[in-house]
Parts: sequence; structure tokens; C-alpha cells
Amino acid sequence: MKIMVIGGGGREHAIIKALKKSRRVNEIYALPGNGGISADAVCTGIGAKDIPGAVKFALDNKIDYAVVAPDDPLVLGMVDELSKAGIPCFGPDKKAAIIEGSKVFSKNLMKKYGIPTAAYETFSDMEKALEYLDTAPVPTVIKADGLALGKGVIIAETREEARAAVKSMMEDRAFGDSGANIVIEEFLTGPEVSVLSFTDGRTIVPMVSSMDHKRALDGDQGLNTGGMGTIAPNPYYTPDIARRCMEEIFLPTVNAMNAEGRTFKGCLYFGLMLTPDGPKVIEYNCRFGDPETQVVLPLLKSDLFDIMQAVTDGRLSEVPVEFENKSACCVVMASSGYPKKYETGFEITIPDNIGAQVYVAGAKLESGRLLTSGGRVLGVTATGDTLKDAIDAAYCAAENIHFENAYYRKDIGKRALEA
Ligand code: AMP
Ligand code: GLY
Repeated sequence: MKIMVIGGGGREHAIIKALKKSRRVNEIYALPGNGGISADAVCTGIGAKDIPGAVKFALDNKIDYAVVAPDDPLVLGMVDELSKAGIPCFGPDKKAAIIEGSKVFSKNLMKKYGIPTAAYETFSDMEKALEYLDTAPVPTVIKADGLALGKGVIIAETREEARAAVKSMMEDRAFGDSGANIVIEEFLTGPEVSVLSFTDGRTIVPMVSSMDHKRALDGDQGLNTGGMGTIAPNPYYTPDIARRCMEEIFLPTVNAMNAEGRTFKGCLYFGLMLTPDGPKVIEYNCRFGDPETQVVLPLLKSDLFDIMQAVTDGRLSEVPVEFENKSACCVVMASSGYPKKYETGFEITIPDNIGAQVYVAGAKLESGRLLTSGGRVLGVTATGDTLKDAIDAAYCAAENIHFENAYYRKDIGKRALEA
């Protein structure tokens, strides 16, 4: 089988590494991939949002199956176009990807079908939003409707901050058209859990749970980032809570999408908060999380490609989806300064046999040397019998990897260990 994977970050590297283990996968192409992924797949110059380019590449190269990993091409409808061209895909079509593409859509879906989430109001008129803030409780959470590279959420501690956030989104268009509509919602508290799931629109199979660490600095301080590290499984996600989530959130979401004529097939990601009133949905993503994938897939025992094909064909209930009874920790090594300004172009040295898997997110190959090229550079994942073993092994490996200006959090998994 010839497979192509759309995307070029650490998540895609983890997907490609997992697909490589499949007995039926012979060749893997990455669109575009990156300097590190090129060790595991043929990287192309085709960008992740280039839909005509992807269709042409698939046809020219007789690709048997496509995995569309990032949010942008999914929301833009890449799966629809590839499917029309006869290429089977893993990932939702445009109609279903709206569950991530529009927060107004997903909030209204949850309200309509009684799926627990933060109370909210939506606005398309800035004056009305500002008026609402005069009496809204603080802290309050302001969200741009559309995709915003994971940055379209502002938690405002005061009404002043909330007003500034609304203006930045709706007037200054800090996130472009994504801020034409906004959601203002109730501030929730509690531990956060990420649950990625496979669904073919009928069956939904949650993967092992995980915990992201979104802030840049230790102790959950500093700016929000794309994610500075992850652990799995998430100790807050007990079997009891998992059962509740299946009944109150996962199945109702799949059924709601069907009822709306928007059957979701692919990886449905639930960002949950375990509040004193029970688990609630913070966000849906229409794809694998990054860097959650870098701890979830290394624990997958079953054949990823078998599962993906079963999702596409609507027979997920027939294939095994099993995870190892172990833990995993991913430490993201970033360029110092990320998520703000940072320098790139530094050589990365990764010794052999460091006891961890290195997923490359932001690096390019130049004359055989691997150079940093992004904010998040590497995801260093180790597994272990206990969470502590996994954390220790991931940090031991990270200490042995070198590039100038490397920065990583020193407390990934600390909160989970204390849970
Ligand atoms: P998102 O980009 O939607 O994942 O949101 C970024 C982060 O903002 C989440 O991981 C939460 O930590 C936080 N967040 C989002 N919505 C809420 C909420 N209603 N209450 C408290 N925190 C929230
Ligand atoms: N790690 C969160 C996300 O992928 O959106």
C-alpha cells in the first residue's frame, strides 16, 4: 500500500512512525513533511493546505490511501476533494470538520443535544458583545469562532481585559475572519483531559487519555503555546469518569453529528474539563492532537492502518483497538523565545540509543545536517511501566539532545504524578 500523510509536524511524524509498523504499508509520502520526517517517509514540496496539489500528487503517484492530519486542510475540505478523485481518506469531510472549524457551531450543537459544556453566548455584533460584558461574571472566556492556530482563546480576569479581547478579535481582527463571530463563555475549573477517539460515525472507540501542558513555562505560567509536552494515560481520567464521558459526551456527539447530516469519520478529539459538576467539553478538534498523538500512538498495540481503513469503510466495530498497559511522556524541545520571537538554523545532534523516540516538528535538512526551523522543534517521547519511569526516561533523553537555544519545560507530568 502506498500512503500519503498530509502535514509536517511532530504529530505527523508520530502518525508516520506508527503507520510504518503496519504490515500492509510499503511506502509513505509526506505533504510536505519536514527534515526529520524524511528519515521515515518521502517528503514532497506540497504544502498541507494545497488541495489541488494533494489531489494531483495522489493521482500521479497512484496513492492508495490518504491521512489528512491538520485542521486547516480538513476544514477546507481536502477529504471531499480526494474522495471525489477516488482516494480513500482518513479524516472528516468538510461538513463534519466544522465541529472544530466553528466554535459557534460546536457550542450550538452541544446546547441543542444536551452535551455538557460551559454556558455561553455568541455574538456577531461587537456592541452587543461589549454590552453583555457589562454584567457577565469574571473571569470570562472569549473565543474566536474560527481556526486561530490554537491561539483564539483569551481568559479575561477582569471586565477591562474582556473588553480588550473582544475588540482585538472583532475590531482589530487579530485572528482575521476567525474573529468575525465570537463566543463568550463561563470560566470553568478542574483538571483537563484530552481524549482522542476513533469513530466511523457509528462506533466510537476512545484512545488512551492524555494531558497536555499548554503554557510555555514551568508551573503552567507564561503564554499559551501549541503544547509543551504531554503524558498518557491521564490519572484524573478514572474508569468511572470514562464511563460517564461515553454516555454523556462521546456517543451523544457522534449521534448529534449524524442527526445534523454531518456524520463524522476520523479522529474526534475531546478537550474535557473535569469540573465539580462533572466532565464538560472545552473544545472539539476534528483531528489528532499535537502533542497528544506523540504519547498516544506509541502506546497503541493494534495496527493503526487497519484501524484507519476500518474507520473509512464504516466497520470500526470489527477491528481491535488495544493499548499497552504502560505510560508515556513527551517533552517538547522548543526554540528559546517560542511562542514569541525565536532564532532558527541551529544544528541538532541526537545521539543513537537514547531510549526515546524523537518526533521532529520544526527542522530542515541541509547538506545532511538537521537544523532547527520552527518554534517547537522536537517531541521526545519515552514509555515506561509507570508514569515516573516514562517521565525520567524522556528527560534523560532530552538532556542528551543538543541544539543552541534549546528550551523545554522541566515539569511535564509533575501534576499528573501528584494526582
Ligand atoms: P482551546 O484553544 O480551546 O484548547 O483553549 C485553550 C485553553 O483555554 C484550554 O486548554 C483551557 O485551559 C482554557 N479554556 C478554554 N475554555 C475554557 C473555559 N470555558 N474555562 C476555563 N478555561 C478554558
Ligand atoms: N494539543 C491541543 C491540540 O492539538 O489542539
